[in-house]
Amino acid sequence: MHFCRSVLDVHEYRPPLQGRSTTDELLLDFNERTDPLPPVVLEALAGWCLGGRTQVYPEYNGFLEALSSYTGLPEDHLFFGVGSDQLIDCVFRAVTDPGDVALIPAPSFAMYAHSAALAQADTRTFDMMASDLAGVARERLAERRVRIAVFGQPNNPTGGMIPSQVLLELVRDNPETWFLVDEAYAEFSGDSLLPLVSRQFPQNLVVARTFSKAFGLAALRIGYVVASPAMVMQLAKIRGPYDLSSLASYAALVVLRHRDEVLSYATEVMSIYKPRVEAALRSRKIAFLPSQANFLLIPGGVALLADHLKSHGIRTRVMGQPELTGALRISIGGAEATRRLLDALSTPLS
Ligand SMILES: Cc1ncc(COP(=O)(O)O)c(C=O)c1O
Repeated sequence: MHFCRSVLDVHEYRPPLQGRSTTDELLLDFNERTDPLPPVVLEALAGWCLGGRTQVYPEYNGFLEALSSYTGLPEDHLFFGVGSDQLIDCVFRAVTDPGDVALIPAPSFAMYAHSAALAQADTRTFDMMASDLAGVARERLAERRVRIAVFGQPNNPTGGMIPSQVLLELVRDNPETWFLVDEAYAEFSGDSLLPLVSRQFPQNLVVARTFSKAFGLAALRIGYVVASPAMVMQLAKIRGPYDLSSLASYAALVVLRHRDEVLSYATEVMSIYKPRVEAALRSRKIAFLPSQANFLLIPGGVALLADHLKSHGIRTRVMGQPELTGALRISIGGAEATRRLLDALSTPLS
């Protein structure tokens, strides 16, 4: 039996889903929204399900228009897919020939290395624990011809980011390199490249976004990219014409329509609940990295905390990357999730 070398050489990306249960545990392991979406959104989705249209293929009417109003970019700069996971993979496949250099952050979201490996890239990394992230990235970009460079803005799991204005300079200074900027957590950080490029979009830039985090639609799998029309045209050859389900695109339309109400969650997480968790960690002398997203990375957290939180029914993410041995990532949620986390943090470590 023949399998492609590029597939045989790559390991499956298998997130730790075993035993994961929304009913028995508080899930602070995948940086999801902890609060359900407002009833007006859930009722609209229920209405769609009862509308008897499941026999019809998706047509996506109105979705790009709504996305264009939200992002401030024209429709020919937008392309959606089944989660940003799919789009990250499509972008790598669109631009990488075997042996091309891919520069990715380390540690970072596992899909970057996975997609780079599938595209048979020569993967190099830059250090996300460094204090001068932009300086480190600039140096690495100058070392060799880089086909594609990925930036997590903010980076998962470290939570740091390069200010968008500074990143844009890197994009402009390296026109031969594709910049894939992953803004999965932009609704939490409040800092995005999009307003800076809405008048003049750099040809070598692709911004990836998702409805899985602040917009609370992880279960329905919807992501999108903002890119030049030339890139959109190539991506359309790779993704299937109906990959995104009708229900998913309708859900995205509904949350965009109600975005003020939906996104007030992100504002509250960042302005109220994250500072409370940080204060509780500080008072226990537990060190964490400064984060501009809805999660905190605790470098020595596993031995200290993971089991304690588990015994309180709270699931967190023990990091697997070699450079993060012993580290724990905790998602920050809404009022109820934070109350439970603070309760657990206030009891002696078991
Ligand atoms: C940085 C980053 N990018 C992308 C994703 C995946 O998003 P999606 O659910 O849209 O595939 C995640 C999910 O955890 C993430 O942390």
